[in-house]
Amino acid sequence: MSDKLLLQNPFVVSGYRGDEYFCDRAKETAQLIDNMTNGNSTTIISIRRIGKTGLIRHVLEQLPENWQGIYIDILETENLSGFLNLLATSILTSVPEKSSIWKKSMDFVKSLRPVIGFDPLTGAPQASFDITDEYVAQNIDATLKFLETLETRIVIAIDEFQQILSYPEKNTDAWLRTRIQQMKNVVFIFSGSQQHLMAELFSLPKRPFYRSTQIIKLDKIDQQTYCDFILSMFEKGDKIIAPETAHEILDWTNTHTFYVQSLCSRVFSSTDKTATSEQWKQQASDLIQEQEIIFWGYRNILTRPQWNLLKAIAHEKTVYLPTAHKFIDKFHLGSSATVLRSLKSLVKYEMIYYDFDAKGKKYYCVYDVFFQKWSEGK
Ligand SMILES: Nc1ncnc2c1ncn2[C@@H]1O[C@H](COP(=O)(O)OP(=O)(O)OP(=O)(O)O)[C@@H](O)[C@H]1O
Ligand SMILES: [Mg+2]
Repeated sequence: MSDKLLLQNPFVVSGYRGDEYFCDRAKETAQLIDNMTNGNSTTIISIRRIGKTGLIRHVLEQLPENWQGIYIDILETENLSGFLNLLATSILTSVPEKSSIWKKSMDFVKSLRPVIGFDPLTGAPQASFDITDEYVAQNIDATLKFLETLETRIVIAIDEFQQILSYPEKNTDAWLRTRIQQMKNVVFIFSGSQQHLMAELFSLPKRPFYRSTQIIKLDKIDQQTYCDFILSMFEKGDKIIAPETAHEILDWTNTHTFYVQSLCSRVFSSTDKTATSEQWKQQASDLIQEQEIIFWGYRNILTRPQWNLLKAIAHEKTVYLPTAHKFIDKFHLGSSATVLRSLKSLVKYEMIYYDFDAKGKKYYCVYDVFFQKWSEGK
């Protein structure tokens, strides 16, 4: 066994804990690194909770020599100034002190005259700038240009990228796109959890980022590969699970990464030695029970037609033609116009998502696997 940190529970349910606890994604990792080394930026698109953030963190751990990764999650930023603070802070915290570019980076960030503070919990340095808006853009420009001059190649991963759409500064994407295009030494990885906004940013011809990056659509992990991973994680913790039981869990969670990890984590900790079918079913049922209050909460925030449509889709699991008479009549959903309106809202609220099957046919599903199972039992 490796000398790396050994987790008590090998099923990670938040963040990234290293290669040993990460399942597969070999192809996507290789593709991302290939894009980077060829000077191309990449956008990772998928439905929620599939593992985009995990994949980014994984790639940043596996960078080829002479590459430096910088990760920023801009979800909590509200404007370009917040973006700059994060970028500068992340440069300070990502570049290892021993590396050849550390002093240069430190000197550069200092030259922007930030207020450098320290995170009270971790002690990590933090930069913030007390400057007027016009200088913010200049400073981001200067930062990117500085990175471009380093002898190390740089990949900047921007997670929750759709957040720039809510910045008060107009056309941030056009501005950023121009900067990015001018750079050779620095490449980007973009990702974001709000799929409809990410799609708007990257796949609408009128948007500046249209066709400017390679798009990776992150799918579910192959079921057999995930099964092998589950078996090996149990083994790592001196416990046992039969392949059939692991497959039952994967079927129940639709192989949706977050739900697989959550359920496996529970099953692992509640098992003394060998996990049984009864055990995972009990854990699954407990998980759903714990969330019931949240599910009832959905009913309060949705209109009656939206709630009925959500339940109907949950009941059917996969719906290809939500405005077809057959579906509408079965669940008494009113007119097709009502259904269309509700569909749009539910997609926006991220209660349901749409995707395309192997034949390119569009279908709708409920996002939350636990909610779907819960409403099946109602
Ligand atoms: N390859 C993997 N192996 C094991 N666990 C993973 C893997 N990828 C992701 N996870 C775990 O699954 C959960 C969801 O992953 P992650 O947060 O990366 O998804 P996401 O696609 O970024 O979600 P969101 O769209 O909400 O941002 C996390 O708990 C993460 O630790
Ligand atoms: Mg994410």
